[in-house]
Amino acid sequence: MATIVPETSRTFSEYLLLPNLTRRDCIPANVDLRAPLARFRPPAGPHLHLNVPMVTAMMQSVSDDTMGVALARSGGLAFIFTSQPIDAQAEMVQRVKKFKAGFVVSDTNLGPQAAVRDLLELRRRTGHTTTAITATGSSDGRLLGILTGRDYRIGHVDPGAPVTTLMTPFDDLVYGRDGITLSEANNLIWEHRLNCLPVIDDQQRLRYLVFRKDYEQHKENPDELIDHEKRLMVGAGINTHDYQERVPALIDAGADVLCIDSSDGFSEFQHDCLAWVREHYGEAVRVGAGNVADREGFRYLAAAGADFVKVGVGPGSICITREQKGIGRGQASAVLDVAAARREWLQETGDYVPICADGGIFHDYHITLALAMGADFVMMGRYFARFDESPAPRIRMGTNFVKEYWGEGTNRARNWQRYEAHLPAGGLAFEEGVDGYVPYAGELRDNLSQTLSKIRSTMCNCGAADIETLHNTARLTVVSATSLREGGAHDVILKETEIVPGGL
Ligand code: IMP
Repeated sequence: MATIVPETSRTFSEYLLLPNLTRRDCIPANVDLRAPLARFRPPAGPHLHLNVPMVTAMMQSVSDDTMGVALARSGGLAFIFTSQPIDAQAEMVQRVKKFKAGFVVSDTNLGPQAAVRDLLELRRRTGHTTTAITATGSSDGRLLGILTGRDYRIGHVDPGAPVTTLMTPFDDLVYGRDGITLSEANNLIWEHRLNCLPVIDDQQRLRYLVFRKDYEQHKENPDELIDHEKRLMVGAGINTHDYQERVPALIDAGADVLCIDSSDGFSEFQHDCLAWVREHYGEAVRVGAGNVADREGFRYLAAAGADFVKVGVGPGSICITREQKGIGRGQASAVLDVAAARREWLQETGDYVPICADGGIFHDYHITLALAMGADFVMMGRYFARFDESPAPRIRMGTNFVKEYWGEGTNRARNWQRYEAHLPAGGLAFEEGVDGYVPYAGELRDNLSQTLSKIRSTMCNCGAADIETLHNTARLTVVSATSLREGGAHDVILKETEIVPGGL
């Protein structure tokens, strides 16, 4: 006979945190948001940790190398999406690992034969005015000169004139040598009143451009997540089909941690994948698994050797799995159940297996709730999809901008490895996700800093200056429908500051 689990399936919005005593030294500036990223044995600390407890969803519309750089610079970690060819994913990983703050690989380059009309066309396409003239016309050719917007006046210059007649030639350029530090580059920029400093190798080949405006932005990043060689850290998604080829390629590319991307982690496919990684790499390669929604799923993956376990069946904003298949669990209930199982596992084995709450976070406070319920970190798709750094196109809609956001279970993403044992002819047999939009929100850094401020502030209200204390001391209450109404502004007439016609 079927079993009915006694607890109702509940979501984050059905809970609130209760305040605990806030001690004098428990202020937002003292809150430590570091979180373990992979299994460890207390009292020894984790080998891998996050500086802020957030990772990106492994999705085409969320998590490429640009997102990887931006999030690692702010202390979190991106998992580069796996629904792409192995070499393309490995290249994205490499680009994050090779990133040097403030050193930009030039994207606006021309060869010496190019004319002004080519320059104008290129400038329109890239939106950048600083153009490198190189022998090959590529970003790493021998540098011949640099053209900036100050070197010519549109409408006053012959479109057929060669760019070489307008550029500052190499002999007149101030440049840096490969290996120069950002502050040395900045000193040259200030000494010579430059806007841009080219950096070349010993054969005069262009390596990077350093822009004056980037220095301020790049120098302060106290939370930056870096490896022992001071390179940004990055994760990568894998699947249970081609891991024997994908894992070695991603590890060679420099991935710091891997995660199996699947809608259903309670499976022998994940067991086999984890066993293969252990057999070939021992503990040197860290790999998370999931998704699960309860104690049984957690114990299965913990026993199979998962370095962290991802929780969430059906809570995602673009997810229609529950409607399509009638499977899943409210995310709050799932996290609470798995957290209890993790405590049990720790007592039995001595191993602490971090939990990641994946999906269903739409208010910032949901992150704090997930942490209070026992998650070590959260994975988010919708949240990150809204930012400049997500790879999805930005579109104007009425007077607002939106970004596209589509699920991995759509025919657009064709991520059959996440859902099916094989790709049926003509696409997925049915979709488990939708293709939609999210409101555009600007830069990751600004948004994240506000979200973190809210988390730190709530943690202080709960008397917890770190996540472990929050796990151990948080008190939560279930809210009624009427108390939800009390939670927002109510019984006042709001002053509308802006009425946006056609707004979202
Ligand atoms: P969000 O943060 O609520 O947008 O949820 C993101 C999470 O939804 C991802 O990390 C995945 O676990 C999950 N997800 C991604 N694509 C799909 C889909 O097409 N269907 C169901 N779940 C999805």
